[in-house]
Amino acid sequence: MSTVAVILAAGLGTRMKSRLPKVLHPILGDPSLLWVLRALPKDLRGAVVVVHHGKEQVLAALKSWEQAGLLPCPVTTVDQGEPLGTGHALQACIPELDRLGTSQVAVLCGDVPLTTASTVLHLCAAEALLLAMDLPTPGSYGRVLQHSDGRLAGLVEAKDATPTQLALQRVNGGAYSLPWPALRKALLALTNDNAQKEFYLTDAVVAVAREISVTVEVCDPEELAGMNSRHDQAALQAAAQRRIERHWMGEGVTFLHPGSTLVGPRVHLQQDVVLEPGVRLEGSVTVGEGTRIGQGTVIVDSVLGPGIEVRPYCVIGLAHIGEGSKIGPFARLREGTELAEGVHIGNFVETKKAKLQRGVKANHLAYLGDTEIGTGTNIGAGVITCNYDGVNKHRTIIGGNVFVGSDTQLVAPLVIGDGAIIGAGSTITKDVAADSLALSRVPQMSHDGGASRLRSRQKKGTGLS
Ligand code: UD1
Ligand code: MG
Repeated sequence: MSTVAVILAAGLGTRMKSRLPKVLHPILGDPSLLWVLRALPKDLRGAVVVVHHGKEQVLAALKSWEQAGLLPCPVTTVDQGEPLGTGHALQACIPELDRLGTSQVAVLCGDVPLTTASTVLHLCAAEALLLAMDLPTPGSYGRVLQHSDGRLAGLVEAKDATPTQLALQRVNGGAYSLPWPALRKALLALTNDNAQKEFYLTDAVVAVAREISVTVEVCDPEELAGMNSRHDQAALQAAAQRRIERHWMGEGVTFLHPGSTLVGPRVHLQQDVVLEPGVRLEGSVTVGEGTRIGQGTVIVDSVLGPGIEVRPYCVIGLAHIGEGSKIGPFARLREGTELAEGVHIGNFVETKKAKLQRGVKANHLAYLGDTEIGTGTNIGAGVITCNYDGVNKHRTIIGGNVFVGSDTQLVAPLVIGDGAIIGAGSTITKDVAADSLALSRVPQMSHDGGASRLRSRQKKGTGLS
């Protein structure tokens, strides 16, 4: 497709009252601008994002999305300079659109996140189209004037409208597709002779409509709703959530408390997944068949296999969890956690850069960082891999079928061979060979009758001394 999409994202977003550029405010974890970009067809010649306010942040975000492979087509940017209106934004794009050999331009706004991919595809394929919506309270949107046959006749901004025009409920959704030569010509002729002293893109669209027929299509208002305030953001998020829940319920997923669950647009759920109340899944998350995610659990950028039970209140990020594992409650799986099948991670266990083979159990109160643990090994309560010496991180390699007794500190770097047993309460600083029994404990002392003697001293105030 020789269409190029232009995405307007240079505005300040004053009403968001934020240091973050408006187009980077998230809806279910993904910034508004990313929603817009991801809805673009894959075969577009390119997309041009118009930036200015918060440019550095927007450019950094675009770079990270490109690196993560999230952008469907090549994206370039144009700095509009001080934004003087939507028409001015398009004027700033003229050299870039010429360079790209554009024949057709589709214009979208970076703060309108919920336009579906099918609507965007339809827009990009159209010759001359404007997307409109019918609103009972049209507010500050531009009003759409149509010829008797429905063709676009005019666009009037609310601030420039007569009372009769203000009463119109059909409003401009701000999404257009137009032939580039005609739009280019109209942009060069724009003036800012209006109530806001801005160069209106709408004036250029109307100028094109005088030359060729521009179709007006009415969409579901949800698809064209813009994010101008935190109220809009909350409403858009609720709408997105309803849409996503409807989709996954249709695919055989149970939401025990729809509405309390936040599932992002890049989450993939297989059938018979159950999401308990208050679950949040953000970024790129895949959950396998029949896996249950417990109440209050947060999962970001992770892959979970089938048949897993994540009990309530776990926090999981950048982790892979194998089939049939049991996690939590209250577990924290951090970046680089890779659990094979049937691993048990219990309450108050933290893992980071930890590769645990099949059937490893760490059921209570442990820190497992920078470690590899072999098949069937049992990690007792309170075990800690002491991976950090204050300057560098070191690794702990534990073999298969090892028993690490409770309250053991494993001071890395350390290698523990297959089948070793480490006695509870040990501080292990040297490698342990396979099948060895390692203990490092202060020998115990017991004094007969010593408890009574101590208590009487305590009563006299002489205590242990
Ligand atoms: C615009 C339309 C209005 C339509 C509404 C739909 C014009 C003149 N009006 O109004 O008819 O009903 O969108 O949402 O186009 N932007 C820039 N550079 C600028 C100005 C804006 O990049 O100089 C970007 C903003 O960041 C935003 C988008 O363009 O993403 C729309 O701008 P905004 O100021 O919200 O336009 P509206 O007044 O809402
Ligand atoms: Mg707006």
